[in-house]
This record gives sequence, structure tokens and C-alpha cells, in this order.
Amino acid sequence: MIEDLLVCPVCHHELPIDAIKANGTGACSHCSYVYRYADGFFNLIPSPFPDQDIQAKADLWQKLQDNGQISYTLLPETNLSVGEREDVRRFKDFSQMRGTVLDIGCGPQAVPSYAQGYPGRFVGIDPLPGSSDRAFAFVYAVGEYLPFRDETFDHVLFATSIDHFLDAEKVLTETFRVLKPGGVTTIWFSEHVESVSQDSQPVLVRKLSNALTMLRRLEFEEFLRRLTKQFRKDDLVPPDPRVEYLNSLPVPPGAYNAFHSFRPDISELRRWLKQAQLDLVVETRPDEQGNIFVKAARNDA
Ligand SMILES: C[S@@+](CC[C@H](N)C(=O)[O-])C[C@H]1O[C@@H](n2cnc3c(N)ncnc32)[C@H](O)[C@@H]1O
Ligand SMILES: [Zn+2]
Repeated sequence: MIEDLLVCPVCHHELPIDAIKANGTGACSHCSYVYRYADGFFNLIPSPFPDQDIQAKADLWQKLQDNGQISYTLLPETNLSVGEREDVRRFKDFSQMRGTVLDIGCGPQAVPSYAQGYPGRFVGIDPLPGSSDRAFAFVYAVGEYLPFRDETFDHVLFATSIDHFLDAEKVLTETFRVLKPGGVTTIWFSEHVESVSQDSQPVLVRKLSNALTMLRRLEFEEFLRRLTKQFRKDDLVPPDPRVEYLNSLPVPPGAYNAFHSFRPDISELRRWLKQAQLDLVVETRPDEQGNIFVKAARNDA
């Protein structure tokens, strides 16, 4: 049951939840946006998006989402938190989830691995259609317009979703709104250090570009150690036809690659957090794949 948490994602007034559920559709009496219910799930994605700057990005975002869906179907084990992934386990340990949790961009799978076994209340939102047996409270929604009451959640988490949003800064402002005072957010952020099999750039160009990203982040000795390891690893990895196919998807005009509109940068994330009054608590050093875990807390001062 999720009905008790829901409000209109546009104006935050009460919705006629029972009528939407019974009739399959219904409008907010305050702002007139129409929402739907089908096959056991509410769809509270406002259409069109109420802010012009966000609506202007909608077509490109939808193309990237379509490509994303192909990658989640073809290669879930590298693009989603499924199975026993070491990085997923580390993010789960880092997050220390507590209380009522919201997962923004939870993915299409029945349950993300980091949520498995969580004893508290776990709510996920995502715009993508996915498994019909999602094993947690799920709503079709976008992070820019969260369909939840103010101060509902103890913890909001993002697992490799923040670089897929239409407007990450707005999502974090919404995160502040739905967090309880003292609530925390944990973010799994990826700086996109790509391995040999995930990129169609010439090998040397890619290796140099990865090396530069690492050099910016690491002390020199650690940088050399990782660089040597990376070169050895790349030489051993045979090409995977599924990866080759994903690499061949055309990059829509204006996008950074076939799945992301921009190249994520940790300093940008810090700026968005500050803007949203979310105080940085911890930020881990990037691992070899460029994964960084960030914890921030709602600042009520
Ligand atoms: C790489 S997947 C990660 C899914 C899941 N967190 C996991 O770790 O398996 C990124 C997810 O972000 C979702 N997403 C994209 N734009 C979004 C938005 N504006 N609001 C919420 N989720 C969004 C995508 O639909 C996709 O499921
Ligand atoms: Zn409304």
C-alpha cells in the first residue's frame, strides 16, 4: 500500500486516489493534471511537464530512455543492480538504509539487489515500464516531480540514476522537500571511466582519456598502479557482441552518448547538493570504474 503517501506531483494537493484507482484515471481538482492507474500501479508522471525548460528536454530524454531500456534488457548484469554485484553490495553497505526509504530511478527489475531483504518500508519510482511483479511499493513517476507529501522519507537513495535525469538539480530540491528533517540521501555516482569493451573510441584515445580522469582524482602512485592494472585487464577482455551492439546505437544530437545527455562530473553534483540545501557528509574516492558514493543530509538550519 502506497496510497497514504501520495499527492499531486505538480501542486502537492490531495489527489482523488480511490477514484483514480477505481476508474483507471482521474484529475487533480487543484491543477487539473490527469493521472492514471493500471495493472496494479499508479502512473503519476505529469504530461506535459509543467516547467517549460524541462518539457523542452523531454524528447531527447525519451530517446535516451528508449536506449536505456534496450541496455537494461540486453545487459542487465552490467547496467542494473541485479544479482551479486560487488559494487552494489558496497553501495548497500555504504547507504546504511533506515526507516522509510525512497529509491529515485529504481529501475525496471523486480527488486534492485540493494533493496533485497530490507526490513523497513521501501518505495521506488521510475518512469520505465518493467517487471509486473515488482516486490516493493512502486509508482511510475519522475524525480523532478515527486508524487509524495512533504517530509515523508527518512532516506532517499540514487543508484546510478542521477545522470539519467531531465534536471538533476530539481530532483535534489524535490529530495529535500520529501525528506524528513534530519533525513539523509545516498548517491551512487559514476564518473564514466570506461573499459575497453564499453566504448567504440580508438583504444589508445580511450585509455588516455581514462588516464586523465584518474590523474585528476588520485595521488600519483595510486594512479600508476591502477593504470598498469587497467592496461593489463583491457588486453584480456574479449569483445562482447551485446556491448558492441549497444556501442553502435546512434548518439542523439545534443547528447553525450547514447544513454546520457551529459557527462557527469562530481563537482557539478556537489553544486546541485548545495543548491538544494543538502549538506555533504561523506564522499568516497572514485574506484577503478569511477564510482563515487556520496552521503548528504537535509540542512534545516
Ligand atoms: C542505470 S538505471 C539504474 C536503476 C537502478 N537504480 C539500479 O541500480 O539497478 C537508471 C534509471 O534511472 C531512471 N530514470 C531516468 N530518468 C529518470 C527521472 N527523471 N526520474 C526518475 N528516474 C529516472 C531510468 O528509467 C532507469 O531505470
Ligand atoms: Zn495538482
